[in-house]
Amino acid sequence: MAWRGVIKEYWDFLPVSRKTPIVTLLEGNTPLIPAPKIAERISPYAQVYLKFEGMNPTGSFKDRGMTVAVSKAVEAGAKAVICASTGNTSAAAAAYAARAGIKSVVVIPAGNIAYGKLSQALIHGAQVLPIEGNFDDALRLVREISQEYPIELVNSINPYRIEGQKTGAIEICRQLGRVPDFHAIPVGNAGNITAYWKGYKEYKERGFVSRLPKMLGFQASGAAPIVKGRPIKHPRTIATAIKIGNPASWQGAVNAVKESRGLIDVVTDREIISAYKLMAREVGIFAEPASAASVAGILKKAKEGYFAKIKRPFVIVCILTGHGLKDPDRAVAVVKPSKRTYPVDKSALVKAIFGKRI
Ligand code: F0G
Repeated sequence: MAWRGVIKEYWDFLPVSRKTPIVTLLEGNTPLIPAPKIAERISPYAQVYLKFEGMNPTGSFKDRGMTVAVSKAVEAGAKAVICASTGNTSAAAAAYAARAGIKSVVVIPAGNIAYGKLSQALIHGAQVLPIEGNFDDALRLVREISQEYPIELVNSINPYRIEGQKTGAIEICRQLGRVPDFHAIPVGNAGNITAYWKGYKEYKERGFVSRLPKMLGFQASGAAPIVKGRPIKHPRTIATAIKIGNPASWQGAVNAVKESRGLIDVVTDREIISAYKLMAREVGIFAEPASAASVAGILKKAKEGYFAKIKRPFVIVCILTGHGLKDPDRAVAVVKPSKRTYPVDKSALVKAIFGKRI
């Protein structure tokens, strides 16, 4: 049967009923791609899979949560939704609101969201309000506005977002035919790590599986409030999607790590870019920089010897949260292509391709 989207496929796990109008773009069912080139850098016993959430309809994992949040908002009679965003949430909110025929308002840190994401919010017809502050300021404002005015908040503090996003965990177990040993994930506002942990636990509680993975969360080193144990007033990282100093689901992330006996650690921008390029060049996957934090994280832990004590085959799943096309400027900046152009001349091209000796 053709894929029916997150709500219908995971109906029994979600707070929906026959009264819920289903607003879907057939999100979910994203590929779980083996990455032997990364596994060989981790351990001879490692199998690494990349869950490419960039293959969702708006190009990020947010679609899993947004289908549920917008459907429930429409069920409750909402005529408008609002969110703060580093870009992907705004793209998903705008698209699902467009699908539902309701208004969307997105509040973003001016000059700090990737161009692809901004273009999505704009073309889907969202009202885009750039503020002279960061994501944390934006979230505080939309929280207050949604409490005082008739507009539904669709950030991940909306529990329906978490409900939708937890389906990623169930999907991984079904695709793998087992529970991964490790689940590596970038952490920004910490909704997704909270959601995945909830998904794994519920799948186990229902008796479908009997184990749980260790949760490995990774923050950018200049935006690592959870690792540092205090809010960061001026977060900094080239991974703008996770440039967050005071995550809303802080406690959810801490619980996931503690309960799973996993860890949360930092990766530097340099490590993020290195993993970003490695994935593109050796695996064939173009994910956005924030997504590369999960792969950068396991590479770092491998170097530190974290996996060295395991002498039997084990499985790591890394969540690639968003598509590389979201942030084309970063890809071009990293590669720094030459500005040189060529004449319309075969020999000039042959020389460029094969060098002088031919
Ligand atoms: N990766 C990407 C590509 C993201 O866009 C985000 C969050 C994360 C990772 C972190 O997920 O916040 O659940 O811990 N983006 C949000 C947004 C904040 O507004 O699009 P998280």
